[in-house]
Amino acid sequence: MYKNSTNQFLKPVTTKINDAGNLEIGGCDTVELVEKYGSPLYVMDETTLRNICCDYKSAFSSYPKVNMMFASKALCTMGTSALIASEGFGFDVVSAGEIYTVYKAGADMSKVLFNGNNKSFDELTLAIELGVGRISVDNFFELSLLNEIAKSHNKIIDILLRITPGIECHTHEYIQTGHLDSKFGFDLTQIDEAVELILSEYNNLKLRGLHAHIGSQIFETKVYHDEIEILVREIKRLNDKFGLSLDEINIGGGLGVKYTEKDVPPSAYEIADVILKSLNTAVEKYQINPPALFIEPGRSIVSTAGVTLYTIGSSKQVPKGKKYIAVDGGMADNPRPSMYQAEYSAIIANKPLAENNTKVTIAGRFCESGDILIKDIELPNPEEGDILCVFNTGAYNYSMASNYNRVQKSAMVLVNNSQSDIIINRETLDDIVSGDVVPDRLKIK
Ligand code: LLP
Repeated sequence: MYKNSTNQFLKPVTTKINDAGNLEIGGCDTVELVEKYGSPLYVMDETTLRNICCDYKSAFSSYPKVNMMFASKALCTMGTSALIASEGFGFDVVSAGEIYTVYKAGADMSKVLFNGNNKSFDELTLAIELGVGRISVDNFFELSLLNEIAKSHNKIIDILLRITPGIECHTHEYIQTGHLDSKFGFDLTQIDEAVELILSEYNNLKLRGLHAHIGSQIFETKVYHDEIEILVREIKRLNDKFGLSLDEINIGGGLGVKYTEKDVPPSAYEIADVILKSLNTAVEKYQINPPALFIEPGRSIVSTAGVTLYTIGSSKQVPKGKKYIAVDGGMADNPRPSMYQAEYSAIIANKPLAENNTKVTIAGRFCESGDILIKDIELPNPEEGDILCVFNTGAYNYSMASNYNRVQKSAMVLVNNSQSDIIINRETLDDIVSGDVVPDRLKIK
């Protein structure tokens, strides 16, 4: 039996029902949070977030050379980045915006890895100028582009090669990434050509190791075993063939979370056990020096810590059909149900103990029939003005949010010890039009 880690919980660890009979998170009454900050409101619980960071660190502590990085794509704000950096994590970033956010948050840039399948000249330049520690090069075009930029800055850049290990994992097709026919990384058959080019022509690049990522919302641990076997085998092969001393492997992220009662994700302690055993076995088998291990989880770090609070507005009973309850957010603050048929759990924050007696479908407020947040959920007589709390929205909600229908993006608060702090301001109507320009010839006099 493995110790539990917080990615296995449906709700933030501080969730309770307070004396007023309302849902409380981080010591804050969620109904009061909506009164104070409005809705929809993203709420992040600091304790849950720090707990999972500690889980990861202690789960991997027996391996001397482990480097934890957080995959910023799951949630990238300056406040959460500062918090995660304070836990000793580095960052996996995929754009100038993410690089700049972690930089402004004060992250140690030497612990940042820049990753992505089509990094631009400007983004690579920014990464070099801000001292990003590693660049995971995805393809031949990028090798040449990065070498040119590095040369013009008179720098030698540490790189990894992103490879496609050819492993299928059982998750939604859109979030599988390590299978052979993937848009990411070098195919196994292209690695030697890439290494030859680095050694012969690209003198401003220093190859440190290999990087792979097999998918997201992963529940089976064996895929990590297979991935590590391939990465270590390739390291050994390249070291022998080219006389290299590659000593870094980055195995990506992927650990799943519990969106509904049906989901039973493994604990961080279990995947750490599989990963470290597989690594030690592969190191023995291929007789290499133990490489530095990098892991870059995203979802499992931030998902459980986050909830979204909505206010219920209109409702509609389709004659002989479903009962729809509409909330003041939806697919623009959480596109996951409409993109991936993702399922979520929710309760009514102002009557969490009331008996669930009504089956409803939670509809968003956006002009799209597919804007449904939760299908067929039992709730206690949901009514206009009730506060709906949707759990496990910390990952890939705010980071994929849009301004569809020109609705302002929601605010985010960090809660801890009965204190709440705004970490993202709610957008204003002026923010909505701030980038718009009306050409003079079209101005209405
Ligand atoms: N490293 C790399 C190279 C990645 O591509 C990803 C995620 C991660 C790490 C972090 O994976 P995680 O630990 O979060 O599973 N928007 C989708 C998820 C896309 C994941 C993309 N890559 C969703 O909402 O489910």
